[in-house]
Amino acid sequence: MAPYSCLIRLAAIVSAAFIACAPGAVHAQQPQPSSVFSFSADGTGLQLGGSSIAPEIRVASNDLPGVKRVANDLAADFGKVLGVNGTVVVADWDATVSSKASQKPIILLGTVGQSSLIDGLVASKKLDPAPIANKWETFSYQVVSKPWDGRDAVLVIAGSDMRGTVFGAYDVAEQIGVSPWHYWADVPPTKRQYIWAKDAVHTEGPPSVKFRGIFLNDEAPGLTGWGGKKFTKSQYGSPFVTEFYKHIFELVLRLKGNYLWPAMWSSMFYLDDAKNGPTATEYGIFMGTSHHEPMARADKEQGRFLSGSWDWSSNKAGVKTFMEAGPTRAKNWSTIYTLGMRGSGDVASPTLTSSALQEVIQWQQSTLTRILGKPLSDIPQAWEVPGYWQKGMNVGEDVTLLWSDDNRGNIRRIPVGTEASRRGGAGMYYHFDYVGSPRNYKWINTIQLQKTWEQMTLAYDTGVRNIWIANVGDLKGLELPTAHFMAMAWNRASFTEGASTRAWLNAWSARQFGESVAEATASIMTTYGKLTARMKYEDLSKTPFAFSTVNYDEAERNFNEWTDLLTKAQAISDGLSPDLQIAFFEAVLYPVMAGRGVYEIYTKTALGSKYAGEHRTSANKLGRDVQAAFKADGEITKRFHALKGGKWDGIMAQTHIGYSNWQEPSANSLPQLSWVTSGAANAIMGVLAQRSTASFPSSSQLSLPAINSYLPAADQRWLEVYTRDNGTFTYSITSNASYVSVSNSIQSLSTTSGISDSRSLVTVGWASAPAGYSVAALTVSNLNATNVKATVLVPIENYSAPTGFKGHVEANGVVSIEAEHFAPSPDSSTDYIVVPEYGRTLSGVKLPAKTASQSPGTGPVLVYPFYTFSNASSASLTVYLSPSDNANPNRPNRYSFSVDGGSVTTVQPVPLTDGSTDPPGWSEGVTANAYVKTSSLGKRGAGAHTLRIWLLEPTMVLTKVVVDVGGLKTSLLGPPESVRVRY
Ligand SMILES: *[C@@H]1O[C@H](CO)[C@@H](O)[C@H](O)[C@H]1NC(C)=O
Ligand SMILES: *[C@@H]1O[C@H](CO)[C@@H](O)[C@H](O)[C@H]1NC(C)=O
Repeated sequence: MAPYSCLIRLAAIVSAAFIACAPGAVHAQQPQPSSVFSFSADGTGLQLGGSSIAPEIRVASNDLPGVKRVANDLAADFGKVLGVNGTVVVADWDATVSSKASQKPIILLGTVGQSSLIDGLVASKKLDPAPIANKWETFSYQVVSKPWDGRDAVLVIAGSDMRGTVFGAYDVAEQIGVSPWHYWADVPPTKRQYIWAKDAVHTEGPPSVKFRGIFLNDEAPGLTGWGGKKFTKSQYGSPFVTEFYKHIFELVLRLKGNYLWPAMWSSMFYLDDAKNGPTATEYGIFMGTSHHEPMARADKEQGRFLSGSWDWSSNKAGVKTFMEAGPTRAKNWSTIYTLGMRGSGDVASPTLTSSALQEVIQWQQSTLTRILGKPLSDIPQAWEVPGYWQKGMNVGEDVTLLWSDDNRGNIRRIPVGTEASRRGGAGMYYHFDYVGSPRNYKWINTIQLQKTWEQMTLAYDTGVRNIWIANVGDLKGLELPTAHFMAMAWNRASFTEGASTRAWLNAWSARQFGESVAEATASIMTTYGKLTARMKYEDLSKTPFAFSTVNYDEAERNFNEWTDLLTKAQAISDGLSPDLQIAFFEAVLYPVMAGRGVYEIYTKTALGSKYAGEHRTSANKLGRDVQAAFKADGEITKRFHALKGGKWDGIMAQTHIGYSNWQEPSANSLPQLSWVTSGAANAIMGVLAQRSTASFPSSSQLSLPAINSYLPAADQRWLEVYTRDNGTFTYSITSNASYVSVSNSIQSLSTTSGISDSRSLVTVGWASAPAGYSVAALTVSNLNATNVKATVLVPIENYSAPTGFKGHVEANGVVSIEAEHFAPSPDSSTDYIVVPEYGRTLSGVKLPAKTASQSPGTGPVLVYPFYTFSNASSASLTVYLSPSDNANPNRPNRYSFSVDGGSVTTVQPVPLTDGSTDPPGWSEGVTANAYVKTSSLGKRGAGAHTLRIWLLEPTMVLTKVVVDVGGLKTSLLGPPESVRVRY
C-alpha cells in the first residue's frame, strides 16, 4: 500500500529526507476506484445519502484550519450530488460523545494526532492508525462499527497530516461524483439518489513526489483579462486576489497537489491581496516563486521596492535588504524558497559570476536560518540549476536542485551520479505553455500525454522525486495535461507502463463525462495529442508549409484526420445532456474544433497556392474556405466566452493565427491567399497527376508514381481533372490496358454549379497485368472540344516478394517502417518497451529509463527485415527520433545500425551542450517534434535485407525508420508505412 518503505516524520515543513526512501510495494490498480462506495437503491453498509438524507460531518475543535475548511466543501459536495447539503459540526471526543445524538449519518473527518475524534477512536481501539501515521500526506477512509454506544457505524476519513486529511475529504468527494474540475471546467456533479459506504478500507499515499504543483504563467491576455472581469482588482491593478486564488488552491488540492507558483507577469502574490499568503497556508498550499524570483519576493516587487539596481556586485546592500524582506514576510506561511539570482526580468545576469552566485546562495541560506529560526535541513529550498552547477558550483546538501525541460517538453538534464541522493533531492520544472523562441505556445493544449509520461517517467526513475512543477499558462485550456501531470506525481505506481496513459485517460474521461462516452472521448483526445504533436498551432505559419502538399498526399490526409476527429467529437457531444455538453465543449470539442480551424486555415492556404499554380478555379473555393475558417475561429471563441452566462468571458483571448516570429501577433491575421482571377480561354480542362507539380495543359504528358501491389492503403494512386476557367465541360478517361481501371471515368465539371474537381483512383488487376515493369497510358479527353487530350502514364511494377519473406516490402523506392513493428523475439530484444500512441504517427520504442549505456553493435537490438525490388546505387537510412535532449551529460543520445550484418555505424543526433544551451538543430527539431537523421547505406541490390538498430541510451525514443532505395520524397512525417508481410 505505501509506496515507500521508510517513514516520513510528521512536520508542517519536512526536511528533504524523503528522497532517500526506496520504493517498496505499491498499489498498482489503474486507476484507483474506491471499493468503499456504492450508489444503488439496494446498497448495503452505512447509508450516507438518500432522498432528504445527507451526512453530518464532524471535525474536532483542535483539528487544523485546512481540515475545518475542507469539511464545508465536503458537505456542499454531498449537496451537489444528492440535492441536500451535508452539515458540518465541530464536536470533540469526550465523555459526552455518545450523547451528541444525530438523526443523520455521521462522517468523522480528522488528522491523526491533531483531532480528538480520530485520537479517541484510536485510543478506544476502533481505528488502527498504523497504515497512515507518521507518513507524508497519507489518508484512509473506512466504515468503523460501533464507534461509541448507540451508534452502529460512522465513516471515518483520517489523514496523517493536514493535507492528508484534506486529500481524503476531496477523494471522497470525487468518488461520490464531484470532479476536481467542477469550477474550472464546469464538470457537473453526478446526481445520485443513494450513497452507501461498505465495509472496506481505501488508503492512498504517501505521494510519489513530495511537492507537486503548477505555475500560472504567461497569463495575459487570457487569465488576466478574464480575471479582471470577475474579481475586484488589487490596488496594484492585479485581478489575482484571494477570491481568485481560493479557486486555484482548491483545484490544486483536489488534484492532490500541494505547491503553487503564482502568476507573476504583472502581479505580486503577497501584496496584491494581503490575504493571499495566509490563505494559501490555511488551505495547505506551499507557495513558491518562479525560478528568477528569489527569497519569496515577486519579480514585480523589484521595480517598486528595491533600492538601487538588481545587481549583486554593485548594490549588495540594497539587494540584501530587498531579499531579507521575503522570508520576514512569509515566515509563518508554507513556503519553498527559491534561491539564486538571475538578471532583471528572467535573463542571465551579465555581472553574476559563478563565485558571486555561490556567495549569493550562501548568504540566502544563512539569512533563511536566521529569520526562520530553523536549521537549513528544515527549510524547503529550490534552486533552478543553470550551467553554473555543471561547472562545479557548490550549494550544499539541502537545496533541491530544480532541473527543467527545454521549454518544449524535452528534459534538459536528469540527475546523475550522486545528485539524486543529496538531502535536498531533485525537482523538475516542466512546460505545457511557453513564451520564447522558436515560437510561443500559449493558446490551447498542444501536449501529448504520452510524451509527458515518457519524460516524467525518465525524471522519476532517475530520482526526480522532491518537486514536480508544471507551467500551465492560463490553466484554462490545459486541464487535461495538468490533471495527468498531477496524477502521475501523486501515484507513479499507476503509471508504470506505456499503456498507463490511455488507461488513465479512459478513467479520467469516465469521471468527467460518464462511462458511456469514456473510451470514445479518450480516443479523441489521444488522436488530438498525436495531431498537435505533428506541429503546434503557432508553428503552422512557417513557410514553406511543413506538411507536403505534393508528396504522400500529406497535407490533405493530415487535415482529413482533423475533420474526422471533429465529426466524432461532435457526435459524442450531440448525445450528451446539456450540462455535460458545456464541460465537453470546454475540454474536448472546443480544442478539436478550434484546432481543426487553424489547421484548415494553413492547410488550405498552402493547397490554394498550389492550386493557383495549376490555374484551378477551386483555388478560389479554398480561399473562401480559409476566410470562413478565420471567421469561425472568432465565432467559437465568442461561443466559449458566452458559456454559462459569460463565466469565461475573455479567457480564450490569446492570439494564435498569423505568427511571424517567436512572439505572438498583436491580432489574429490571415496568411496571404492565392486567387485565380483571369480566365484561361479555350483551356478549361486541367489535369493533374498525383505527386507532381506539372499539370495539363502546360504539360501534355503527365506521369503517376509507379503502382505496385505493395502500395500502402494510405498511398493509393490518383489523377484529378478540374476546371481552369468559368464554364462547364465533360471529360472521359480511357485506358490502353484492360487491367488498368479508373474511377469517375466520365463526368461533367462546372465552375459555377455542382463539382469543379474530380479525383479518379487508378487500380491494377494484378492477375492479368504483365509480369515485371510495364507502362500503361490513360487518355483524358475534353468531350466538348476537338482534340483536347492529356496523356497520363501509369508505370506498373508487377513484382512479388518471395514466398516466406516476412517483413516490410518496398514500394516506389522506399521502405517505411513504424518503430514498433520490429521482428518479434528472438530476433529483436525484448528489453525494449513500446510507448503506444507516442509521437507523430504510431508509437515510440525505447529502453527503460534505468538501462545502462549500450555498446554499438551489441546488447538489445531492434531487427527490421525488409525486401526491395530496386537496385540502389546509393541507398540511405533515415531515422526518426523524438527531439530528446542529451539529458545525461555523460551519456549523450546515440544509436547504431547495420544492414545485412555489415559494419556498424553509430550516430549522435545532436552534440552535447552545457545543459543551459540548446544544441544546434534544436529549433527545427522541436518545431517538427523530431530529430530526423539520414545516413548512407551505399549500394544495395534488390532482395531481402535486414536492418538492425541499437538505441544506445534510454534517454531517446525511436518512432520510425525509412530506407530510401531511390524514391524518397520530402515530407514532414515521412512516407506512410510500407506494407508488411506479417510474422
Ligand atoms: C448547500 O450549500 C451550498 C454551498 O454552501 C449553498 O450555496 C446552497 O444554498 C445550500 N443549499 C441548501 C438547500 O441549503
Ligand atoms: C469567374 O467569374 C467570376 C465572376 O464573374 C470572376 O470573378 C472570376 O475571376 C472568374 N474566374 C475565372 C477563373 O475566370
